[in-house]
Amino acid sequence: MIELTQVSKRFQVGGRTIDAVQPTDLHIPSGEVFGLLGFSGAGKSTLLRLINRLEEPSAGSVRVHGQEMVGLSGDALREARQRIGMIFQQFNLLSHRTALHNVEFALEVAGMPAAQRRAKAREAMAAVGLSDREQSYPAQLSGGQRQRVAIARALATSPSVLLCDEATSALDPHTALSILRLLQQLNRERGMTIVIVTHDIKVANYLCQHCVVLEQGRVVDRIAMDNPQPQSLLGRFFFETAKGWTDQTVLPQEQT
Ligand SMILES: Nc1ncnc2c1ncn2[C@@H]1O[C@H](COP(=O)(O)OP(=O)(O)O)[C@@H](O)[C@H]1O
Ligand SMILES: [Mg+2]
Repeated sequence: MIELTQVSKRFQVGGRTIDAVQPTDLHIPSGEVFGLLGFSGAGKSTLLRLINRLEEPSAGSVRVHGQEMVGLSGDALREARQRIGMIFQQFNLLSHRTALHNVEFALEVAGMPAAQRRAKAREAMAAVGLSDREQSYPAQLSGGQRQRVAIARALATSPSVLLCDEATSALDPHTALSILRLLQQLNRERGMTIVIVTHDIKVANYLCQHCVVLEQGRVVDRIAMDNPQPQSLLGRFFFETAKGWTDQTVLPQEQT
């Protein structure tokens, strides 16, 4: 359902060339939680951003639901992006808008008529368990609550794909787990395909069915998480550090 074919991204900075993503083939099955694992600078964010065309590929093809993303512009690109939500490590909320208005604003950008926006935004806030914080500004919310608002914003356009770039890296472990549980619930209950970027094997262990390990812009390992047999040194390193969370891990309290 997400099919990258020989996709690559080269940046030119000053006189320097950076091959952030080397020509890569990647198939991400529909309905999975799929991980992009690697250390800082490996090209994870760039690869993720190629999926919704936040980055323009230097070459190759990106198909989402059979639709070629490369070459889309204007309304067609905007419509395609509505089917692909995204969340970030630093949440990226607008500080001068309430939580509800942050979600509504995304719908405004998506071109939804004013009359429908409020109801849709409230529905999304309810889905992330924040109906009682609609009128709060981001600064009045904890990190976990901010990420929930960002998830509500991403959900508001009813996407079938959610891209997560280090979505729990700025959160304490308990809050991180509560966000991962929410993502898992969205995957299981809505069949949402989720692509997560992480440097944390625990996150991948807990959520993902499959992962690839990236190193210097290349996929060096592809791993089935139900029977991990990493082939690369880096992949093995990640798994040696693995001590994953399970469904039985007790969350002492909801620390959002
Ligand atoms: N907009 C950009 N301009 C120039 N270089 C970039 C840009 N974005 C990323 N890079 C470079 O591409 C490489 C991969 O970056 P990134 O995808 O952010 O890695 P990761 O998310 O795995 O930490 C790095 O060397 C980074 O400096
Ligand atoms: Mg990154």
